[in-house]
Amino acid sequence: MTEPTKTLLMTGASRGLGRAAAERLLRDRPDQLLLVVVRGEEAGRRVARELAARTGNANVRAVSCDLGSLAEVRVAADAVRKLLDEREIPPLTGFLANAGVQMASVTKTTADGFEATFGINVLANYLLIRLLADRFEPGARVVVTGSESHFGDFRHNLGLVPAPHWTGPRSLAEPGSGPDAETVTAGRRAYSTSKLGVQYLVHELARRFPKIDFYAFTPGLVPGTGLARDASAIQRFGFRFLLPLLWATPIASSPQTAGVRLAAAMTAPRPAESGAYLDRGRVVPSSAESYNEAREEELWRGAAELCGVPVG
Ligand SMILES: NC(=O)c1ccc[n+]([C@@H]2O[C@H](COP(=O)([O-])OP(=O)(O)OC[C@H]3O[C@@H](n4cnc5c(N)ncnc54)[C@H](OP(=O)(O)O)[C@@H]3O)[C@@H](O)[C@H]2O)c1
Repeated sequence: MTEPTKTLLMTGASRGLGRAAAERLLRDRPDQLLLVVVRGEEAGRRVARELAARTGNANVRAVSCDLGSLAEVRVAADAVRKLLDEREIPPLTGFLANAGVQMASVTKTTADGFEATFGINVLANYLLIRLLADRFEPGARVVVTGSESHFGDFRHNLGLVPAPHWTGPRSLAEPGSGPDAETVTAGRRAYSTSKLGVQYLVHELARRFPKIDFYAFTPGLVPGTGLARDASAIQRFGFRFLLPLLWATPIASSPQTAGVRLAAAMTAPRPAESGAYLDRGRVVPSSAESYNEAREEELWRGAAELCGVPVG
């Protein structure tokens, strides 16, 4: 077994395209320790065991964290810092922030009372990166999984997800009330809006931390993952069993194919300037709406306030 010399932190490695990416990383990068963030210690140990067994690479460890709790994000960041301080793990050279959720309403909340989609897809990433920012090695790479739904047009969302509607971090973090809040449309709009937020976050991170490379990666449409698990039984069935018929077409990818591309986004030679958008690995512009320095700054300040950290 090769002794690892680098640590790559990853969320969302337990299933879906992240699981495929984690397996690819372990198969291709034996020089790297994969530190997976999984909710629950037992689940973490199980995921780490399964990944090691499937890949034949035991360089994988788990850190317990439910990203739907900012207190747990803090505990996880402290655990990673302690492991680094005590040289229990090699230097931190990357973070693959792949975890994400799509809800069928905007009424579900995180442990902190924030709307769940915004809380998990944006705030948890923000806080984890903020708390570890000083621990990344120079030249480290952070890839956050975004979504082309942030464009809001049919070409990118195939009519499956409504266009984003940016109303600012404090308002987006408020769980919805009223009849519209209970609808799938509201839940999916929150999803595309959260992924627009991911674009803003990546741009602002690139500006504020020039020694680290930040990228947003979109896998395109990847049916067959657990992403639709909050949807109705019919929609879950369609996403799991019908839409995978599109895997053979350019419209969609399998979790396996998407995972291999996601892993490559972490390991391929530097693809572009920090802040770039990788569409299935190709460097392309993100939506026109996603380039907005005022909103990027607004998100940064709002997220700092919501997460209880200094603006910095
Ligand atoms: N599938 C698509 O068509 C598609 C398209 C564009 C972008 N994406 C993005 O791709 C990423 C992966 O999604 P997927 O499609 O592979 O869905 P998935 O199968 O549901 O995987 C989601 C991953 O996120 C983790 N996660 C969710 N909530 C969490 C929490 N509170 N704490 C810790 N981990 C949490 C899940 O862990 P558990 O196993 O513990 O639930 C799982 O590992 C997401 O960011 C998603 O938005 C997907």
